Amino acid sequence: MTTISLPLSRYQVDSQIAAAVSEGLLSRPKWLPSWLFYDAAGSRLFDQITELPEYYVTRTERAILAARAEEIVERAAGEQALRIVELGAGSCDKTRLLLRAAVDRQDTVVYEPVDVSASALAEAQERLESEISGVLVSPRVLDYTRDFTLEPPYPGERRLLLYIGSSIGNFEPGEAHRLLENVRTALIPGDAMLLGVDMVKDQSVLVPAYDDAAGVTAAFNRNVLVRLNRELGADFDPEAFAHRAVWNAAKSRIEMHLESKEEQAVRLPAVDLRLDFAQGETIHTENSYKYRPGQAESMLRSSGFAQEETWTDEKGWFSVCLARAV
Ligand code: AVJ
Repeated sequence: MTTISLPLSRYQVDSQIAAAVSEGLLSRPKWLPSWLFYDAAGSRLFDQITELPEYYVTRTERAILAARAEEIVERAAGEQALRIVELGAGSCDKTRLLLRAAVDRQDTVVYEPVDVSASALAEAQERLESEISGVLVSPRVLDYTRDFTLEPPYPGERRLLLYIGSSIGNFEPGEAHRLLENVRTALIPGDAMLLGVDMVKDQSVLVPAYDDAAGVTAAFNRNVLVRLNRELGADFDPEAFAHRAVWNAAKSRIEMHLESKEEQAVRLPAVDLRLDFAQGETIHTENSYKYRPGQAESMLRSSGFAQEETWTDEKGWFSVCLARAV
């Protein structure tokens, strides 16, 4: 008689996390997907990043939206009423500017944030409904990186779909293009999309934005190891890894890595892995793509949108593009 012994895991492991971690850490060079950053602690660290003097991204986009909210809403709506859909529920303070402009124009607005996290959606709903009267939040728990559908708009209504915050920057060009095609498929002709992209600029600005003096981005990067320790029973020593931010000019992206300070072994019992690290060996944890003028617009066009207008700041550091589903 043969006895098969099945490994009994003491860990309640999310299968998507287990699969991604195994694939990434068994690859050479090692990598981890950047969506792993955003557990509760990582989301708080990201909020801190947006306030850093070196991290120009959030405040530059916010300034563009503050100056242009009325115009954006006007252009997107035309003669119709707007329903505002947003991919991700994280960018509350910037979204608020557009919701206020919509309420000023049409008294009430339906806001549909789309996110995988029910708790992030509940928080956004609570905040926005209490802060702006006239906003009706209709949260949708789903993964917009997969195929997704939206409720059909009411007659006389069109959608403005927001994908702001340079979130698209985390995707490789091919993935970004597919994502925009999926978005287009979920919309109907006449609906609008607002896309926020970060632009290529001197690396003396780019690198400090991802390697700040206070070390907040380093803590954000290392937090992924803290998360694997907690959720997969791993025994990473986060302090044994150095934070690295590098500008990859050929690929037009900032890369974040964690570099092993010494030769070391790490166990991840929940996914049955034992890993060796050489001194100086890296885990690639994030890409943040930066765009050149016209690139976002041509990607939108090839995904089934007609480009309408692009707004930028006086330095040309960030762009907000409005496009129409055709
Ligand atoms: C949330 C993807 C826009 O790429 O700038 C910030 C994430 N990473 N600092 C970005 C991030 C390191 C951020 N996005």
